[in-house]
Amino acid sequence: MLFSKPPFQSDVQLQSFTTFGIVASARFYLRIIDVTQLRQVSQLPELTKLPLLVLGGGSNVILTGDFSGVVLHIALVGREYVTEDDHFIYVRAAAGESWHDFVQWTLQQGWGGLENLSLIPGSVGAAPIQNIGAYGVEMKDCFHSLTWFELANGKIHTLTYTDCQFGYRDSVFKHALSGQGVILDVTFALAKQWQAKLRYDDVARILEETTVGAPTPQQISSAICKIRQSKLPDTRVIGNVGSFFKNPLVSAECCAALLVRFPQLINYPQANGQYKLAAGWLIEKAGWKGHVAGRVGVYSKQALVLVNLGGALGSDVIALARRIQADVERQFGVQLEIEPFLA
Ligand code: EPU
Repeated sequence: MLFSKPPFQSDVQLQSFTTFGIVASARFYLRIIDVTQLRQVSQLPELTKLPLLVLGGGSNVILTGDFSGVVLHIALVGREYVTEDDHFIYVRAAAGESWHDFVQWTLQQGWGGLENLSLIPGSVGAAPIQNIGAYGVEMKDCFHSLTWFELANGKIHTLTYTDCQFGYRDSVFKHALSGQGVILDVTFALAKQWQAKLRYDDVARILEETTVGAPTPQQISSAICKIRQSKLPDTRVIGNVGSFFKNPLVSAECCAALLVRFPQLINYPQANGQYKLAAGWLIEKAGWKGHVAGRVGVYSKQALVLVNLGGALGSDVIALARRIQADVERQFGVQLEIEPFLA
């Protein structure tokens, strides 16, 4: 098996494989459909000599230019009921499954827990990497374990909740295990004693308008889909990767000082005494909402989302992101961290 020969493809356009739709190509590309294939690839001595990009649904990656190495596109499929005990139903999905389709499948079976994470673009295998979250729930809240293929030796490991070191849009896969392997499948524990999580005013309001009595997981999912559709651009129509920056965490002193200057500052106290600020608010206040910079822009309904206005290159996106970061730092003294992976 050589990179320049089948089953690998050379000089493959990646535009349709990432949700931002960036124009960039991969020198070598392979769609991974089973573990055997992954094992064969891992045994290639050349693998360590070239840059490697593991691509899932492409919803959290910005290609900064043509990729000079090997792209492994994970297309492992399958989802199943695993088992249950007194408290939980355990379900598993392969890494290449669409996240939203998987969530809908669990809801169709009558199992609640993932409904607040409806309509998040991307694949199941990418979900633990950034610990996806929305409307008061993070993936870690229903996570049980995952299996992970180590490229250096072909070993398959089971990683528990603790092993994954989940944080806000963070996990071990962004640190010690970055670029070291491939997530094969993820197992979730869905509580039998389901409880609605309606901490967000938007969600509660829509449900009050549309449902009578206590809402079901499916009704919550529908409400979440409605909210996302009204605020966030559909990746099939306008290229984007959701939030482009993390909401920054600042000290209590910093937040208090900012509140004196900006009484409307949106801030959320954290358990550790820090405050999380709404990056979208900071970017809007700094004057960037709806800004157009050639082929890229800042979404007009949500300033935390950068959008592809047609034919964007990675360099266009990064240039705009850097200008926004510098301006927010100048105006508020707050540093914004880019959330998607820059390849
Ligand atoms: N806001 C503004 N102007 C804007 C955008 C937001 O003033 O242009 C204000 C809103 O009015 C609101 C606050 O900022 O008071 C927070 O906005 P929103 O509820 O839209 O959520 P967010 O903090 O911008 C986060 C997640 C989203 C997730 C939503 C809902 C991050 C980086 N982003 O966004 O996740 O869907 O909360 O829970 O934490 C993603 O990670 O890609 C993503 C979309």
